[in-house]
Amino acid sequence: MSSAIETSGLVKTYGTVRALDGLDLEVEEGKVHGFLGPNGAGKTTTIRILTGLLKPDQGVARIFGRDVTSGSGVRTNVGYMPELPSFPAHLTGRELLNIYGQLYGLGKSERESQADELLDLVGLENSGDRRIGGYSKGMQQRLGVAQSLLGDPDLVIMDEPTAGLDPEGRAEVREVVKQIGEEGETVFLSSHLLEEVEKVCTHVTIIHRGRGVVSGSVGEISRRVSEREEIVVEVDELGEKIINSVEKIPQVRGVNADGNELTVLTDIGTDIRREVSRTVFQAGGIIIGMREKKKSLEDVFLELTRGKGRKNERG
Ligand SMILES: Nc1ncnc2c1ncn2[C@@H]1O[C@H](COP(=O)(O)OP(=O)(O)O)[C@@H](O)[C@H]1O
Ligand SMILES: [Mg+2]
Repeated sequence: MSSAIETSGLVKTYGTVRALDGLDLEVEEGKVHGFLGPNGAGKTTTIRILTGLLKPDQGVARIFGRDVTSGSGVRTNVGYMPELPSFPAHLTGRELLNIYGQLYGLGKSERESQADELLDLVGLENSGDRRIGGYSKGMQQRLGVAQSLLGDPDLVIMDEPTAGLDPEGRAEVREVVKQIGEEGETVFLSSHLLEEVEKVCTHVTIIHRGRGVVSGSVGEISRRVSEREEIVVEVDELGEKIINSVEKIPQVRGVNADGNELTVLTDIGTDIRREVSRTVFQAGGIIIGMREKKKSLEDVFLELTRGKGRKNERG
């Protein structure tokens, strides 16, 4: 089976900024695949390469098996919603879709029927003849989604489709994306919000500093990370000596101090509370509280994207 998107070793540098540092990515057909990473991770750069707007310095990107980095014409089977799309305020939603439809080479009747269908899909059926200038941000983003679906593409790429929206607007856009996914469309969407990806996507690749750090189905990754354990130890006076001693406990995979709290990352299924207790005491500390914490996908995301614990996420 061919992948919808496949990149290998993508490198892109802007001056001295290495935006992509050897990105490998694979998106299977028929999936709603999230591209998750904090601001500056390289999501937009990747998407601009995939849509042919930017050339990588190194590496290859393929869409449905075709090299897009060699640069050849418009790809009509790929829909694209840019980050924060801004449309001319004086046009109506329907007029906008009509103009884009012309750009994509659709005939008049096809443009009309697709505009109706897409306005309906994104919940703008009653606003299609109003000027975009009077749309809320959420409505404008939904129009952006509709635009990206013109011409019935085989793959839709959306760059932060819920960016800049309030919770209600985000929920609206999420609903639309979900619906598109349920219809079997392949969707690749970027986001810096884990919650967003968890709610909409079946698969996810986490990107950090221009590299993919983890990739798989949302369920798989959640399961994998929930098996990692952390204990949070509250010490009356947390000092270097205590931190260093706890770090030396063989089962400890990492520690993180925050105020008087010491977070200790352990191997799966190991209960080291007694060992930690003894160690802290021997190092001159008194434990005030201790609790176990199951890690969520969010914890792992934060950890990865803060640049901590990376070493531990490989095993
Ligand atoms: N045109 C540009 N000129 C210089 N640096 C850029 C440019 N575009 C992006 N960058 C830098 O490249 C890195 C990746 O940016 P980007 O791909 O936009 O990330 P994201 O979409 O994940 O927020 C960032 O450090 C950003 O500042
Ligand atoms: Mg971006």
